[in-house]
Amino acid sequence: MTYALPADAALLQPVRIGYADMRNRLFMAPLTRSRAQADGTPSDLAAQYYSQRAAAGLIISEATAVSAAANGAYLNTPGIYTERHESKWAEIADEVHEAGGHMFVQLWHVGRMGHPDISGVDPVAPSAIAADVTTHTPTGKQPLPVPRALRTDEIAPIVEDFRVAARRAVDAGMDGVEIHGANGYLLHEFLSDVTNRRTDRYGGSAENRARLAAEIVEAVAAEIGADRVGLRISPGNGAGDMREVDEVAAYEALLTRLAPLDIAYLHVLIDPDVPAFGALRGLWSGPLVLNTGREVDTRFCQLEELAEWGVISAAAVGRAFLANPDLIDRLVLGAELNEPDVATFYAPGPGGYVDYPTLAENARIETA
Ligand SMILES: Cc1cc2nc3c(=O)[nH]c(=O)nc-3n(C[C@H](O)[C@H](O)[C@H](O)COP(=O)(O)O)c2cc1C
Repeated sequence: MTYALPADAALLQPVRIGYADMRNRLFMAPLTRSRAQADGTPSDLAAQYYSQRAAAGLIISEATAVSAAANGAYLNTPGIYTERHESKWAEIADEVHEAGGHMFVQLWHVGRMGHPDISGVDPVAPSAIAADVTTHTPTGKQPLPVPRALRTDEIAPIVEDFRVAARRAVDAGMDGVEIHGANGYLLHEFLSDVTNRRTDRYGGSAENRARLAAEIVEAVAAEIGADRVGLRISPGNGAGDMREVDEVAAYEALLTRLAPLDIAYLHVLIDPDVPAFGALRGLWSGPLVLNTGREVDTRFCQLEELAEWGVISAAAVGRAFLANPDLIDRLVLGAELNEPDVATFYAPGPGGYVDYPTLAENARIETA
């Protein structure tokens, strides 16, 4: 698979995101890699993995729990709620910066996607509605249990966990944080009319369903500055057994409420050809990062067009960055891309993590 970006491609131009200029518009999408240590400290290999990919305009880290209770959707996912976590994130920030990159930490609460055999706690959600999916636990694949509906007085402490985690990220030297409001986890569950059946001020109307995500973004922005805060959403995305019926209203309410804050960026995971994208794009005047989630061969040309037209400020790319630490060089040269190895996406150890070859290494392998 190859794709050549023209030398003057819009995606290769610098872009202002929040408080800093990113050197290009190809961002690394957040990718859970399940290599963290048992206590949620990132892997010793994480600094190498991320700094190998520092040529991305911005690296968005794998989803990272804001508390022990916020973790537990998958094995070995990291957190950022202890001193030990913070110091490992600081090593990662240092190495990425040394390699010339920028990095935000994606902050996460898994909501109903958690399993007690992973997190040690019963999962919580807006309402007691289970996701009809299985997850890998230490004792094998298991269905997810019915989550407990959060009491209203349990919600403010979750907002506080996000605020404190964002402070830790910035204290660790990270450039900012991305609030994970996508893919069927807690914030998405609140936004959706299917998973949120609450009758308090966090449920019912679109404004109420958007309230938790908005309060978190506002609290984090007040703590670290809005220009260091991104928000990821995925309206209508079915990950995590989400079956939104009304795909736009809560997002419209959310973006309308957040507009005056001037956050660093809005990151949308959506097919840009669906009407919801147009509706939301029209509501957002700040930087917009798009992840289409499409196959590699069709994606770069469409993303380049959208960037040229000014529809998007940047594109987030997941699996292609996972498999190609030097993705930008390969696109500039029109060189063959390494294929991602699905079997090692979440497998422990360095294989499929820090050993994807660069172009120079490919050449050495071929001539050996
Ligand atoms: C291995 C893997 C892990 C992922 N982990 C996360 C994550 O931690 N947070 C998140 O928001 N999305 C996550 N995603 C979704 C990606 O960010 C992205 O939306 C998806 O891979 C589609 O983009 P792509 O076609 O460029 O890979 C993950 C996807 C993959 C393949």
